[in-house]
Amino acid sequence: MRTLLLFSAATLAAATYTPKKPEPAKPLTAAQKAEYAKVIQPMFDAHCVSCHGPKKEKGKLRLDTLEATLKGGKNPTFVIGKPNSSMLLSRVFLDRTAGDVMPPKAEKPMTEKQKEALYTFIEGQPIPDELAKAALADTKAALTAAKAAPKAKK
Ligand code: HEC
Repeated sequence: MRTLLLFSAATLAAATYTPKKPEPAKPLTAAQKAEYAKVIQPMFDAHCVSCHGPKKEKGKLRLDTLEATLKGGKNPTFVIGKPNSSMLLSRVFLDRTAGDVMPPKAEKPMTEKQKEALYTFIEGQPIPDELAKAALADTKAALTAAKAAPKAKK
């Protein structure tokens, strides 16, 4: 009887114990994954993957797949729901004259709509349709411009 009591007390303790540490990042929902594929990945393809992809891995960071993006580079990129502690976001939102701005100064910058869509996504909010459309249009324009005037290979 005594053993049984001890056993149930231990089981109860194990079941109710909550470790005091920050919550791990939640996995993305199916809707968030779909939004990433539709709006965010094309944006990264147009503006970032030339330096953060299979050919170059600046800052040890690749942005050519969701897995790589979430993995981060030398530093973490972002956690959904925590836009204010995202290094990736802060570098995208830096003033265009800042040395750390991404994409770098010499590159075609992201538009306000693209940045707003990215911010909304990292906030963990659904990207409103109008905003998603506007951001996608800007992404397409950037891709077309890049094709029309290919940069000289260095
Ligand atoms: C022309 C090349 C180039 C392009 C295009 C570019 N980057 Fe970078 N990026 C770099 C270089 C070089 C570094 C490493 C040095 C540094 O941290 O500034 C870097 C570093 C970073 C880092 C820090 C990585 C780490 O873990 O320390 C982030 C975040 C980043 N880039 C995001 C972006 C995003 C988002 C885009 C597209 C909107 C982008 N970059 C486009 C060249 C580029």
